Amino acid sequence: MPGKLFQRPSTYQANMYSLLKKALFLTDPETAHGLALESLKLGHNVGATGVLCKTVKQPVTVMGLEFPNPVGLAAGMDKNGDYIDALGSVGFGFIEIGTVTPRPQPGNPKPRVFRLEAAKAMINRLGFNNKGVDYLVRQAKKRQFKGVLGINIGKNFDTPNEKAADDYLFCLEKVYAHADYITVNISSPNTKGLRDLQDETQLNSLLGTLDARRRTLADEHNKRVPLVVKVAPDLEDQQIPGIADAVVQSGFDGLIATNTTVSREAVAGMRHADEAGGLSGAPVRDQANHVLAQFRAALPGDIALIGTGGITRGGDAADKISLGADLVQFYTGFVYQGPD
Ligand code: FNR
Repeated sequence: MPGKLFQRPSTYQANMYSLLKKALFLTDPETAHGLALESLKLGHNVGATGVLCKTVKQPVTVMGLEFPNPVGLAAGMDKNGDYIDALGSVGFGFIEIGTVTPRPQPGNPKPRVFRLEAAKAMINRLGFNNKGVDYLVRQAKKRQFKGVLGINIGKNFDTPNEKAADDYLFCLEKVYAHADYITVNISSPNTKGLRDLQDETQLNSLLGTLDARRRTLADEHNKRVPLVVKVAPDLEDQQIPGIADAVVQSGFDGLIATNTTVSREAVAGMRHADEAGGLSGAPVRDQANHVLAQFRAALPGDIALIGTGGITRGGDAADKISLGADLVQFYTGFVYQGPD
């Protein structure tokens, strides 16, 4: 399967992106991000992306949803759902928008995104900058994208952890009707204390509360939307069984391994390596794969695993599938390699 799915890009596509990347990489990463997405939207609107990029048809059914192929875009690139159709047109089987919070918030002061080019990596400390859940829902309602749409939810930076469940519940209720699956993000390193929600007791309580609300929402909307939780690559091995247990006990459907890392071991000494935030891209791959494999061993086979972190070429995605991932996602690889 991997050989067929993760095929090499055409020389034309590769050259096109390589030219665009040279221009984009002359600007700061956050400006480049906005320009790249606006160019993609323009390309989509004039029908160019549909001609250049093909959606590989390799349908898989996971969590009861049919994915056109198992390769998705990870959360954070389209935080507000502004680019769903444009991103969908480059061939992703699924797109995860967000992280969205109940209220709009500006995130951390700039600069807050850094490229570590030699390592095919990035560090970001965006801090859930987003336009709020009402805006995202308006965007999601307009989507034409035929693949699977995930919506990733979080809490506002000024909501204390004791009240975190209220923020997640608020977002869950708002996005429920418009999402194919919903991700509960408790693993961003850029919202103070967020990762503490991974502690077993807090996690049991949070996931249980969300599942209970999901049951009533499922009745109201006559559809059961799968819930998944997204974890950090910095978990200690001994934390894995407790988290796996909370996932199973709460009736969650899947887990995303992983978010960005706070470790700098793999990039020590490089320019920007000491910037605070989450490191993504090639250097997070081994850690993310380690956590993924541990969860595959700890979770029953009917709990879906989405492998994320450090995919920069087809072989990296194939490795995650062989470690037990049902689906894969990437973000930083898309920045460095483009839609190919
Ligand atoms: C992210 N990521 C992320 N994850 C999440 O759950 N919510 C978010 O809002 C964001 N925001 C975000 C911004 C930026 C600039 C980056 C680079 C990453 C994490 C992302 O979804 C993914 O889990 C990690 O980046 C690891 O995958 P890659 O990038 O190595 O393929």
